[in-house]
Order: sequence, then structure tokens, then C-alpha cells
Amino acid sequence: MQIAIDGPASAGKSTVAKLVAKRLNYIYCDTGAMYRAVTYAALKQGIALDNDKVLAEMLNSFELKFVPADPEQLVIVNGEDVTKKIRLPEVTNQVSLVSAQPSVRKEMTHRQQDIAAAGAIVMDGRDIGTTVLPQAEVKIFLVASVHERAVRRYKENVSKGIETSMATLEDEIKTRDYKDSHREISPLTQASDAILLDTTSLNITEVVEKILEFIEEYE
Ligand code: C5P
Repeated sequence: MQIAIDGPASAGKSTVAKLVAKRLNYIYCDTGAMYRAVTYAALKQGIALDNDKVLAEMLNSFELKFVPADPEQLVIVNGEDVTKKIRLPEVTNQVSLVSAQPSVRKEMTHRQQDIAAAGAIVMDGRDIGTTVLPQAEVKIFLVASVHERAVRRYKENVSKGIETSMATLEDEIKTRDYKDSHREISPLTQASDAILLDTTSLNITEVVEKILEFIEEYE
């Protein structure tokens, strides 16, 4: 069975998708981490983030691996552990530019479909239900208010010792949502057969339980 979880920035997709995968003993794939990894590599190699042709060349020798580890799987790019680096603001605030490039979308979509071919999977992102796995049996579109998403990101940042004001976080979330929803190729949008789940007033456990209920209903 394939479970697609899409939604805007910081809606809690990864946290929830990881837990659902664990409960079901399914593979988990964080597609946002893949676009972040491409962005990190392009920044490191000094490639213009909107240069589709050069990004396509870079992807010819772009080795990306997810390695199981506790508490979170590691993201390895060309042999380098980038798990933490791909979450830095420099990457977060520029990833939408890279993810809008045609060659990047094509390549990542192929790789994601290959990963999904390996077995039962929970995959989270922006275009999983619409483009990557349109045949997924259960599709969830996870949303929450901008304010609530900024609060969650703020708390996460504080726990990591990062200082960013609420106003800045709200602006960053709104900007990224706008760019992801307005790009030409597979923009962020709810698939017609996806279930809308507003998590504004729900905690993580409640969201996970609701998704597991939807999956049970399908079975
Ligand atoms: O999910 P996360 O916030 O880590 O995603 C980072 C970025 O990767 C998104 O803002 C979006 O630009 C891009 N992305 C995408 N398609 C996906 C997953 C992520 O374009 N399926």
C-alpha cells in the first residue's frame, strides 16, 4: 500500500509520516529532504540555483542515500552527511527556487518512484498525491494555520538554540508556500482524491491516529 502525505511548509508532515511508517512497518521517504539535498550540493558547488542546465549536469553524478539511524535517518550526499546542514536557513529559504527547475523535478520524481517500487511506503512532500504516486491508495493533505506552523517551527528552533522571531518565521513560511504553490511544474496542490486534515488544534499523536484510521477504513 502507498500512503501520500502532502501539504505546505511546516505542517508537521515529516514528523507524522515517520510515525505512521513506523507503526505500519513501512518504508518512509522524506522527499523534501531530497530537494534540500540538491540545493545544498548546488550551493556548495557555487551553481546558480535557477540554472536548470547546470543543475541537470550536477545531477548526473549526484549520489543521494538515506541511511537508517536513531533517532533520525541520515541523509548522505556524495558521501557527506548533510542531515543537519540541509535544515539550515540558507537551504530552507532557497530550496523553492531549485525545486521549481524542470530537470530537478524530473530527476527527483524518478528517484522517488524507484524508492516507492521497493514496497509499502509512506512518502511526504508537495506533489506525491498528484504527480509522484497518483495511484497511492491513501492520500492526506495536511494543513495548519500559518501562525500555528510558525509557533511549531519557533519551538523547534529554540530547542536547537536558533533564534528567529515569530514574524520572520511567519514571513518565511508564507513566502515558501507561495513559491511552491505557484511554480509551473507540479505545484503544491491538494489531489482531488486526497483527504484534507487540518492539524491546527491537534497534537502529533492525534494526527497520527487519524491517519491510521483513514488507512484502516481503506483496508
Ligand atoms: O518538506 P520540506 O519543507 O522539507 O520541503 C522543502 C522544499 O522542497 C519545499 O519547500 C519545496 O520547495 C520542495 N519540495 C517539492 N516537492 C516535494 C517535496 C518538497 O518541491 N515533493
